[in-house]
Amino acid sequence: MEALQRPSLVLFIFSLLSLLVSSSSSDIQIVNAERRIDLTSHIVRAFLTLKVENKGTSAASEVFLAFPPTEAEHLALVKAQAAVGKKKRRTYVPLDVKPTELPDAPNGAKHFSIILLNPLSSGETATLEVLYILTHSLEPFPKEISQSESQLVYYRDSALILSPYHVKQQTSFIKAPSTKVESFTNVEPTNRAGTELKYGPYEDRPPYSYSPIIIHFENNHPFAVVEELIREVEISHWGSLQITESYKLFHAGARHKGVFSRVEYQSRPSVSGVSSFKHLLARLPPRVHSVYYRDEIGNVSSSHLRTDSRKSELEIEPRYPLFGGWKSTFVIGYGLPLQDFLFESPDGRRYLNFTFGCPLAETVVDKLIIKVVLPEGSKDPSAVVPFPVEQHLEVKYSYLDVVGRTVLVLEKKNVIPDHNIPFQVYYTFNPIFMLAEPLMLTSAFFLFFTACVAYLHMDLSIRK
Ligand SMILES: *[C@@H]1O[C@H](CO)[C@@H](O)[C@H](O)[C@H]1NC(C)=O
Ligand SMILES: *[C@@H]1O[C@H](CO)[C@@H](O)[C@H](O)[C@H]1NC(C)=O
Repeated sequence: MEALQRPSLVLFIFSLLSLLVSSSSSDIQIVNAERRIDLTSHIVRAFLTLKVENKGTSAASEVFLAFPPTEAEHLALVKAQAAVGKKKRRTYVPLDVKPTELPDAPNGAKHFSIILLNPLSSGETATLEVLYILTHSLEPFPKEISQSESQLVYYRDSALILSPYHVKQQTSFIKAPSTKVESFTNVEPTNRAGTELKYGPYEDRPPYSYSPIIIHFENNHPFAVVEELIREVEISHWGSLQITESYKLFHAGARHKGVFSRVEYQSRPSVSGVSSFKHLLARLPPRVHSVYYRDEIGNVSSSHLRTDSRKSELEIEPRYPLFGGWKSTFVIGYGLPLQDFLFESPDGRRYLNFTFGCPLAETVVDKLIIKVVLPEGSKDPSAVVPFPVEQHLEVKYSYLDVVGRTVLVLEKKNVIPDHNIPFQVYYTFNPIFMLAEPLMLTSAFFLFFTACVAYLHMDLSIRK
């Protein structure tokens, strides 16, 4: 009897194994792929539309994306959504995307897994829309330019979309900021029309097909990179939110060569220093007040604040225009009404609802640190952030503090404007602490008063 059971057990394990294997990548095929890469800014945005088909016998619950390791290093964001419904009634449902490891991935390719809403059954197709964003992916060449030269950069990619699947048909479109495209790799068929390059259509490419291309083109977009940004958000239950932002700004474009001529810069702004920037736009929340902007030297008065009911815009002008390789460090501070950002959750805890990211437009932040300073006496802080961040706690002392304030510190690398979305910090607070500061003040006054009285008494007693 045992002898009979064993083969069936082996058969069972074998079928289980084959089930595991078959539910992985190989049964999916990409029927059609279209990629649109936008190189008009210094942040590279790629939109991918994939029509996937399950050619296997079992249902598939995830679809994998592959990236070359050099590109994966610079990935700031990968988002996916599923297109539901026919052409006119089409709606999009966001999908979860997670980094994942695939065994025997060639040449160190990095993978992400898109979790489908409903498993894709055998023979079915689905349309997925993917957005991925790269930073520090345009290399200035020449590396150094003079004030009168325009900035040229290299962009490297593959004419074929890297994929763990067989791709039946694919086309890539690459958009440059201007028609000044110096050179580009030709991979038949390649066409150029105005500012756009078209690679493909290419038919029937096996998994992990790759065909390197280099595009050399003009890009005078300000390459604004904040090497480090520390945003301190201090909550005072007395009615305001105080924000202090310290920037270490850097122009990551081609380095400036030779001397800077302000005369030439001001007299011929259209040809002189075209890749430099002299204004920066910070988008702040509405109802902002007590705005200041200062650098190492002191307050900078050349900033303009425009406010309406939905937003405030602060245009700041550093003391000198920023050329490639130049740095500027400065601090922006402002106050906000507390009732716009602090709420009470149904379970009685309080929470701050504030925007993550950096207020400067179209800027890359290499390292962002957000410090949320809670009122004295706050307990059990916890953050809800829609993407992974590092966190830890600190204590800060300011005037009149007895036990110090709990500071929740959030850290994230490679931050782009798409990360400017709300996050929350929940905490418990005992209102008795609201009395701590006034009590300290009154007792201080009382002590002072008694001291005065005692002094006067002493004084009188001596005179006697
Ligand atoms: C700079 O501006 C801040 C805020 O407006 C102000 O409190 C401070 O006194 C100013 N400092 C100088 C040196 O003008
Ligand atoms: C946070 O604020 C945003 C708008 O600024 C709002 O859409 C969102 O629902 C708020 N989140 C919470 C948890 O209150």
